[in-house]
Parts: sequence; structure tokens; C-alpha cells
Amino acid sequence: MRVVRLVSEIDFAGWRTAARALRAEGVEPQAVVWTVERELFSPPPCGEGVGGVSAATSELAPPSPPPSSQGGRGFTVPAAFLELAEQVILHRAPDRFALLYRILWRLEREPRLIDNPADADMARARDMAKAVSRAAHKMKAFVRFRLVEGAATETYAAWFEPAHRVTQAVAPFFVRRFTAMDWTILTPDACVAWDGERLMVSEGADPADAPSEDAQEELWRTYYASIFNPARLNPKQMRQEMPKRYWRNLPEAALIPDLIASAQDRAAAMVAAPPRQPSDRVLKAALRHSRDASFGQGAPTTLEELEAGVQVCRRCDLWRDATQGVPGEGAHPAPLMFVGEQPGDQEDLAGRPFVGPAGQMFDKALAEAGVPRDRAFVTNAVKHFKHEVRGKRRIHKTADRGEVSACRWWLDAERRIVRPRVIVMLGATAALGVIGKPTPIAANRGKALQLPDQAQGVVTYHPSFLLRVPDAEAKARAYAEFVADLRMAGALAGLT
Ligand code: URA
Repeated sequence: MRVVRLVSEIDFAGWRTAARALRAEGVEPQAVVWTVERELFSPPPCGEGVGGVSAATSELAPPSPPPSSQGGRGFTVPAAFLELAEQVILHRAPDRFALLYRILWRLEREPRLIDNPADADMARARDMAKAVSRAAHKMKAFVRFRLVEGAATETYAAWFEPAHRVTQAVAPFFVRRFTAMDWTILTPDACVAWDGERLMVSEGADPADAPSEDAQEELWRTYYASIFNPARLNPKQMRQEMPKRYWRNLPEAALIPDLIASAQDRAAAMVAAPPRQPSDRVLKAALRHSRDASFGQGAPTTLEELEAGVQVCRRCDLWRDATQGVPGEGAHPAPLMFVGEQPGDQEDLAGRPFVGPAGQMFDKALAEAGVPRDRAFVTNAVKHFKHEVRGKRRIHKTADRGEVSACRWWLDAERRIVRPRVIVMLGATAALGVIGKPTPIAANRGKALQLPDQAQGVVTYHPSFLLRVPDAEAKARAYAEFVADLRMAGALAGLT
């Protein structure tokens, strides 16, 4: 009998190294006992979709070349099997290591095994991988952070009990989602902590380590009540989506009985109200990954539909790192539309365009030009915040042409719904989004351009550019030109 000791429950690299060595030696599956060195906690690093990688302390781990898909005696392990194994290792079933070794062993003799859905070992492994993927999805959806009372800096913590050992695999998702926050997720298997720069992994925790109540709860409850759609209430499905085992971590779960009780009244009230969920038509089109502005039937025809659709947009990849999509807002129909570049840090958090420093500069100039913002529609060429993280800050990055083109689908829909007579393009990205080709600002500002949809276009500086001009005199000159451009646009639109 051969005994393999892995360094952790999710030691994929250790399993793989040991399995290679065993196969090379011709050790049959039934002659191997797989164990985990529990007292030795050696947290594997985090990685999305990866079971973690660490040095195995397997008795059999050879001090040998790094693992590769090339097995002993010329046998190549199919990449699909390695992908499956990475997922299956995260399952809680104690026999998962043995199951995977048995499949590996059989694969050498039955190369088509991986494609045989009727095979009992393969069917079980696939079910296990599905369960792991579901557990990762639930963790992404149901982790709720709470402010840690009395911490020296603003720190958040969440307690969560994943159905399988997915904590490290899911951690990068939370880094992307909550980059600017200090947070810790405590689970019985492992804890992951992000300090704005590094992701750390430590031993599993006790639920008592997690803080319980604070003002964030109220926020979550308000949010959940606002997104709850009684017309779609289906308690059975709701329990499936949000199984009771997760409810105690969820502040909004306290609302569920009341929401169910009042669902009928609310459903009646909602019949007359515009939809808050994207229609199936918009949903389908928004989920289509396409950088082609004209690609995708089913564009929204109301701002409510558009707002809901932007939240699920997958036409390019910018949604991944943003908190939310930021659609345009304001009067509609409106004679005047302002188009900016993309939401900034504050807009990304607030979900509204031009509310941060550039928005303040914009408001000041609008007031000087005598243009009422509330009679215009304000939006951006790109609806998600593109940025890179430096330390604790999220630094704006300019969207590329493909991203602007992908998002033009939404901008065009806004133009059709709002029907502006005049469109002001704030900066080069806005001009690219509206006109569809690069349009130099300095050479084109100060005059009205004819746009194909009968609207008139005005290109001018972006307010952030004005904030950055270093020389005071040049700054004052550019600002005066900016105000003059806004005044001209207001007059063309009949607003001044
Ligand atoms: N800059 C933009 O272009 N748009 C915003 O909404 C905020 C900053």
C-alpha cells in the first residue's frame, strides 16, 4: 500500500506530482491511500478556477522536474482532464483524490474515457465539478461584508460557509470587485484578506470571529427591497437560488417573509410601472460579446430597459472590474445631450454620470454658460469605469477603440430614445463614440457639426482635461473656450 500525504485539502499541484510519480511506477489505484497533512497548514495561493498550488509533501513527490501534461511512458494527459481535476479537488468528497487517480490511470488505457458521459467515474467527476462551480457562484453572490467595529482603519469582514472549498479560487473575484476596500472573508476552510495591495491566505476561522451588525445591513436591505420584483416571485426558485443555509449571513433575508406577504399588492402596482429588469430581448443582446456597434438586435427602447440592460452588459470586458454600469440620466426627450468619456471612480460607486471632480467642474461651467443641466441628458461614451489599481487608488485608463465601439450600441440607443437636437461631445473619446471616427478637438471645437441623424454636434474639451492643464493662463483660456462652447450648444438647442 502506498500512502500519499498532501499539504492541504486543495493541494492540486501535490496531487498531480504524486499521481505522475505513481503512474510512472505503475502503482495501481487500489494500492494508493490519499491523505491530507491536516496539522501542517500551508495555505496555497489564490487563483480563479484553480485549486491552489503548493509544494506537496507527498511521500512520493519526486524531487523531479515540474509537473507537465506529459506523463510517464509517453502518455499525454488531456488538458480537459487537468481542468476537470482542478475543479474536482475543491469538492468536499473525501474520495476525490482517489477518483481522479483512477480516471488518470484508466485514461492511459482508455483514451476516449474523457468523452464518455455514461462512464460512472466520469459522470461522478463531472457532477462534482458542477457542484464546485455552483458553490463558487453562490459565494460570489452571497458574501456580505460588514464594517469591523473599532478597527484602526476602515476594514470589512464577511463570514461565509461555502458548500465546497472554493474560497481561494473565488478570492480574485472579490479583489476585482472591492479593490479599494480592506476586507477579509472568513470561512471554516481558509480566510482570505485583501489590504489594497496583497491578498493573504490564512487558516479557517470560527463564525464568532466575524462581526455581525452594522449600518451596511440597512444598505443591503434597501438595495434588496428595491431590486425585488414581486411579479417574478417564485418562492421555490428563490429558495433554490438563495438556499436557506446562506440566509443567516444575509441581512436582506430578514425581508423575505414580508416581501412575500406584500408581493401581490406590489405586483399589481408594478404592472403599470416600467420594467426594472432587462427584457429577455435586451438581456440576450446585452450578453452578446461584440465590439461591433451595429451588432445585436434587440436594443432597448426605453431608458428603464436600457438602465437594466447596462447592468448585465457583456459586450466587452470592462464590466469585470467595475462596480456597476453607469447609464445616462436627465430629461428625455431632451433638446441637448452631453456625452462624456466614461464614469470615474466616484461615478462608478454612485451609479450616476458626472458627480465627481470632473462633474463639479462641468456644473460650474454649465452655470456660467446659463445652461440648465436638468433640461439636458448627460451620459458617457463608455458605461463602465476602466481603471487600473495602484496601491489603494483606482486610476482611470482610457477606453480603447474596441470598447468604445462595443458601447456605442448603448449610446446609439440613448440617442434614439432621447432624440436630442444638439449633442455636445466632451473630449476625444466622446467624439469617437458619437461620430464613430477620431475627431481632433482643437481643430473642430467652436463650431456646429452636422451629424448623420439630423442632430448638430459640438465637440469641446473634457472637464478633466481642464482640471489637469498645469499653466494657469492656459487653463483660464481653455476654461473660457469651454464655457463659450457650452453657451453655443445651449443656444443651438434653444435652452438659453
Ligand atoms: N468623466 C466622464 O467622462 N464622465 C463621468 O461621468 C465622470 C468623469
